[in-house]
Amino acid sequence: MDTTPNLLVATDADVPAVVALINLAFRGRGKDQGWSIREECIEGTRITDDLLREDMAAKPHGTLLLWRRPDNSLLGCVWLEPQQDGVWYLGLLAIPPGDQNAGLGRKLLEAAENWTKERGAKEIKMTVVNVRAALIDWYKRRGYSLTSETKPFPYGDTRFGIPKRDDLFFVVLRKQLAD
Ligand SMILES: CC(C)(COP(=O)(O)OP(=O)(O)OC[C@H]1O[C@@H](n2cnc3c(N)ncnc32)[C@H](O)[C@@H]1OP(=O)(O)O)[C@@H](O)C(=O)NCCC(=O)NCCS
Repeated sequence: MDTTPNLLVATDADVPAVVALINLAFRGRGKDQGWSIREECIEGTRITDDLLREDMAAKPHGTLLLWRRPDNSLLGCVWLEPQQDGVWYLGLLAIPPGDQNAGLGRKLLEAAENWTKERGAKEIKMTVVNVRAALIDWYKRRGYSLTSETKPFPYGDTRFGIPKRDDLFFVVLRKQLAD
C-alpha cells in the first residue's frame, strides 16, 4: 500500500465512520487496545455522531482530514483548526489499533503539519491528558515540547468519557513549524 497520506476533507457522510475510528483508537480494549492508551484513565465513549457534528458546526474554520485505504475504509483522521497568529490546534489524531506501531501515525502527523503549513501555520498546539506519558514522549520525538500551560479536565461532563481517577488535566504541547 502507498503509505503517503492523501488527505481528504471529511463531510457529514463520513461522521459515523470517523466516530467509530476515534472511539476504537481512544477507548479500544482487549485486542483493540493500542499502545498509547495503556494508562486506561478514561472509560466510556470519546465522541458520538451528534457531538462531532456539533463541534464541526461550532468551529467552521476547523477541518477534519481523513486518510483512506484503497478500499475506502479509514486509516486515519486528524482535526486541524487555525487559532491566532499562525497557531493551529491539532486534535483527534487517530490510527486504527490494528494498524498502529507501523509508522502510519508519524506519517499522518507529518502530512497534517504540512497541510497547515501550506495554509500559513507557523506553530502547532495540542493538548494531551497528563498521565499519557508514552504518548507525550511520542510527540516529543516528533518535535513537540511540553509547555507550562495546562487545561482542566472536564470533570462532571461525561459526554467525552468517564474519568477513572481524579488527578487528570491536560498538558499543552507546541511545535514550531520550520519555514
Ligand atoms: C498516537 C497514534 C496516532 C500514533 O499512531 P501509530 O501509527 O501507532 O504511530 P507510529 O507507528 O508512527 O509510532 C509508534 C511509536 O510508538 C512506540 N511504541 C510502540 N509501543 C509502545 C509502548 N508500549 N510504549 C511506548 N511507546 C511505544 C514505537 O516505538 C514508535 O515510536 P517512534 O516512532 O518514535 O520510534 C495512535 O497510537 C493512536 O491513534 N492513538 C490513540 C488516539 C490518540 O491518543 N491520539 C492522540 C490524541 S492527542
